[in-house]
Amino acid sequence: MSNSTYEIIDSCEDIDFQKVSELLKYYGLSDLDGSTQRQVFLNSYVTIFIMKEDELIGVGRAISDGISQGAIYNIAVKDEYRGKGLGKRIVAEILKRLSGCNVILYTHPKHIGLYEHWGFRRMSTSYARFPEEQYYEQEGFFTD
Ligand SMILES: CC(C)(COP(=O)(O)OP(=O)(O)OC[C@H]1O[C@@H](n2cnc3c(N)ncnc32)[C@H](O)[C@@H]1OP(=O)(O)O)[C@@H](O)C(=O)NCCC(=O)NCCS
Repeated sequence: MSNSTYEIIDSCEDIDFQKVSELLKYYGLSDLDGSTQRQVFLNSYVTIFIMKEDELIGVGRAISDGISQGAIYNIAVKDEYRGKGLGKRIVAEILKRLSGCNVILYTHPKHIGLYEHWGFRRMSTSYARFPEEQYYEQEGFFTD
């Protein structure tokens, strides 16, 4: 990263997934434990971690075929590092690695404005099926 304080890493090799699990749990983005989270990230096409020295301060990932389609998940930046452009940088690093792909994402209703701010547009034709449908229903993810 241009600011030498932060390091962008796209490999899972040296990542402490217990920390990834804690970060995502803290923001309610995922409740998976560290070893399951490691599998999730290893199975993803793009993984981005922002480190400040040895501290994990941001994460994001995308699943993709690497050619035509990609989907972004688990974008998070630690509270004390927010508002410095790191979230936007994580998304930009993911998009760079999905160049040429249609990229989709879904987010909690409270973050819709954020992704619009980052250049994403709302779709009128997206559909979803979730095993825990009731939770998503209660949180306002569905429009029907
Ligand atoms: C969402 C999150 C990743 C943003 O990280 P960040 O490092 O603070 O983001 P950035 O500094 O790159 O960008 C923030 C920008 O978005 C804007 N923004 C933030 N929330 C917004 C919203 N709801 N609507 C519109 N704009 C919003 C800010 O005003 C800021 O604008 P600027 O770049 O013009 O100053 C971070 O707040 C976070 O980790 N939240 C908890 C996890 C989460 O909810 N993730 C998203 C759901 S997948």
